[in-house]
Amino acid sequence: MTEQSEQSRKNGSEGKREPILEVRDLVKHFPLSKGVLLKRQVGAVKAVDGISFDLYPGETLGIVGESGCGKSTVAKLLMNLERPTAGTIKYKGEDITRLSGRALREVRRNIQMVFQDPYTSLNPRMTVGDIIGEPFDIHPEVAPKGDRRRRVQELLDVVGLNPEYINRYPHQFSGGQRQRIGIARGLALRPEIIVADEPVSALDVSVQAQVVNLMEQLQDEFGLSYMFIAHDLSIVRHISDRVGVMYLGKMAEIGTDEQIYEHPTHPYTQALLSAVPVPDPEIREGRERIVLEGDVPSPANPPSGCRFRTRCWKAEARCAEETPLLAVPKVFEAAGTGAAHASACHFAEERAAVVVA
Ligand SMILES: Nc1ncnc2c1ncn2[C@@H]1O[C@H](COP(=O)(O)OP(=O)(O)OP(=O)(O)O)[C@@H](O)[C@H]1O
Ligand SMILES: [Mg+2]
Repeated sequence: MTEQSEQSRKNGSEGKREPILEVRDLVKHFPLSKGVLLKRQVGAVKAVDGISFDLYPGETLGIVGESGCGKSTVAKLLMNLERPTAGTIKYKGEDITRLSGRALREVRRNIQMVFQDPYTSLNPRMTVGDIIGEPFDIHPEVAPKGDRRRRVQELLDVVGLNPEYINRYPHQFSGGQRQRIGIARGLALRPEIIVADEPVSALDVSVQAQVVNLMEQLQDEFGLSYMFIAHDLSIVRHISDRVGVMYLGKMAEIGTDEQIYEHPTHPYTQALLSAVPVPDPEIREGRERIVLEGDVPSPANPPSGCRFRTRCWKAEARCAEETPLLAVPKVFEAAGTGAAHASACHFAEERAAVVVA
């Protein structure tokens, strides 16, 4: 029995799952510099400003939010491509933000990324075989030299490409096929977690579904956990078990896809959802249309208190003074529903009461 199935058997028998990733109070500030040689720090872009969430084995956590709210920065922090300003990222209970050397390499093997743009993320001068097999250079223990070609062909087959394409170059493939190559490379080291940052945004709508379906199929086959970042709320709902809604470096709301899409408690989530076109005229009519005024404020100078208040139709004086914490409303807890449906809004209790009633 593999270590992973042993782990899931244990978790299953206890009826409780342990997260594979635990993110706590994660912060990433990028210094803003000025003056000759940019020597004077005049502030900071608060790209990620205190985010906590868990990722469970085998699940897909979708992350949505407008441009610039810090989604890619969270992805880079998880991948150890950026060092956090503060906070912890625990992988199977161990804080990976402080690792180096061998231990870091081992974690990196288990957390892989699929990038947004399959046109720029594949080196045009390398063959597909070399691109997919590149991770083996850093982790030769996964595929010894003599076994590489066979492993790469296996990976091509797994993502639905002809293994005979191994000597072709990226320009000989369509966008969808290129993203399949990117996914094959992500799978090469047999990771447990895939962080996918807008993996289908650059693709034609007609091929988006095919790539998403492939990712779902691979998840089942290999027991992968996904963090799936996207702009498109319908795609996120389709693939996610849980969804986190980000706004200006903070998590506004998090819950199961049903909780978020059917019973949102944060005004920002409500506004995002109201902008999604609904084909059914009856549902469309019953839904209030919320138009978000203005742009997202600068993360270098976010509003005091609740960051969403400058665009929120419910905002009161309190919202400028007190920062709402991400928490499960008491009404949900008392009703035994809404476990882990948390919202960072002073009015979440009110909304939750409506949902429960
Ligand atoms: N290396 C960097 N240096 C300075 N600022 C940065 C850096 N990387 C990101 N930022 C800033 O941090 C904020 C969050 O950026 P991020 O790319 O994480 O947003 P995002 O949610 O992924 O947006 P999008 O939906 O457009 O991809 C933005 O204001 C961005 O300009
Ligand atoms: Mg991004």
